[in-house]
Amino acid sequence: MIKPVSGFSKKTKVDKIEWLAETYLTNDAGAISILKKYWNSDEKLQKLHDDFIENTISNYYLPLGVAPNFLINDELLTLPMVIEESSVVAAASNAAKFWLDKGGFWAEVISTQKNGQVHLNFFGTEENLINFFSEVKPKLIESLHDIQKNMKQRGGGLVDIIIKNSTQALQGYYQLHCTFETLDAMGANFINSCLEEIAKTFETEAAAHTTFIDNDTFPEVVLSILSNYVPECLVRAKVSCHTGQLSSKHIDGKSFAEKFVRAVAIAKCEPRRAVTHNKGIMNGVDALILATGNDFRAVEAGIHAYASKDGTYTSLTDAKVENDIFSFWIELPLAIGTVGGLTSLHPLVKFAFDLLQKPTAKELMKIVAVVGLAQNFAAIRSLITTGIQKGHMKMHLMNILNQLDTTTTEKNMVEIHFNKNPVSHSAVVNYVEKLRS
Ligand code: MEV
Repeated sequence: MIKPVSGFSKKTKVDKIEWLAETYLTNDAGAISILKKYWNSDEKLQKLHDDFIENTISNYYLPLGVAPNFLINDELLTLPMVIEESSVVAAASNAAKFWLDKGGFWAEVISTQKNGQVHLNFFGTEENLINFFSEVKPKLIESLHDIQKNMKQRGGGLVDIIIKNSTQALQGYYQLHCTFETLDAMGANFINSCLEEIAKTFETEAAAHTTFIDNDTFPEVVLSILSNYVPECLVRAKVSCHTGQLSSKHIDGKSFAEKFVRAVAIAKCEPRRAVTHNKGIMNGVDALILATGNDFRAVEAGIHAYASKDGTYTSLTDAKVENDIFSFWIELPLAIGTVGGLTSLHPLVKFAFDLLQKPTAKELMKIVAVVGLAQNFAAIRSLITTGIQKGHMKMHLMNILNQLDTTTTEKNMVEIHFNKNPVSHSAVVNYVEKLRS
């Protein structure tokens, strides 16, 4: 029987690993050595990574790749992408190249407002609460003076606070809905600090207010937190060209455009397809979000909620053909930052920003929307022409070869063979076995 451990976080890294090895890994020297193999020999760098989270025992590598030739609003960029899925960077690069001689991608930020709520219980007379809120609102704003001093100097800060009656959804439930401008910061810490201060002031003021004292019914703060649903922090990216420019050896341009629009229409109306369609978009979005040290869980949660905003989960992209012009576009809610958090700590994130020519948060929003659109274009293009597996398996070939511990000579021979033959896991295994016998 395994006994619970106490004081685990206080143990040294080596002691933690030893405890894991004794408790779960039957003192497996291989497991211990693999953990240590991934430690960085630069102790300062390792310490930096150790301190990102609690109980770090090693580093977990993912490849950092780059996708060149992204022409975005007339600027040519190479995008950093962190992802494990073999075909994603290749697909992004292909899409970038495809649109390069067709004017590239165009992107615009529509709005940049973030939000958070103080969630309240109140079971008294609504009018009393509303009147109290109007009276106390200046004090709530004033209570943020110190927290938002710097942010305000730069042109950001709290935008507004309103009170919302949500008692239709839940008895006694009201919210202080707060909106913020956080400029180049994602702003999670800033927003949460503001909300907690607002909540504290609100409760203190309410406790001393005659309206509530007389009725012996006080509003109570349940919790205060930012929302990762940010439909007012929105970016749009698009591509367009004459349908004739879409012709390839597989299909003529007009038929391609029509089939493409149809594929998007299917993702618009069928949630089962929309989820996979959007997953393909997130292949690019997450890879760039990770490379730039942003919070991919927040971005994922917000984007998928946005995809359901009209009551049914649907495609994040749209496409049309009008007067022989094919247009394809995406709209994404994105609360991301280029300062603060991991962005100033992780050396590879710094590299990513340098590569992207030090974008502002607004510029990064545009780049992320573009990579999502590019990824979706690449996926649909494959799906409606050759099918997805051809490209996928070609890229996956190296993973299979690595699993089989193939030599460089074997790899070369395999690559020549599978240039002409369809790749599947079993076909590769059989071919390698044949080579070895
Ligand atoms: C695979 O990672 C992503 C795709 O399934 C996306 C799509 O179906 O549109 C190819």
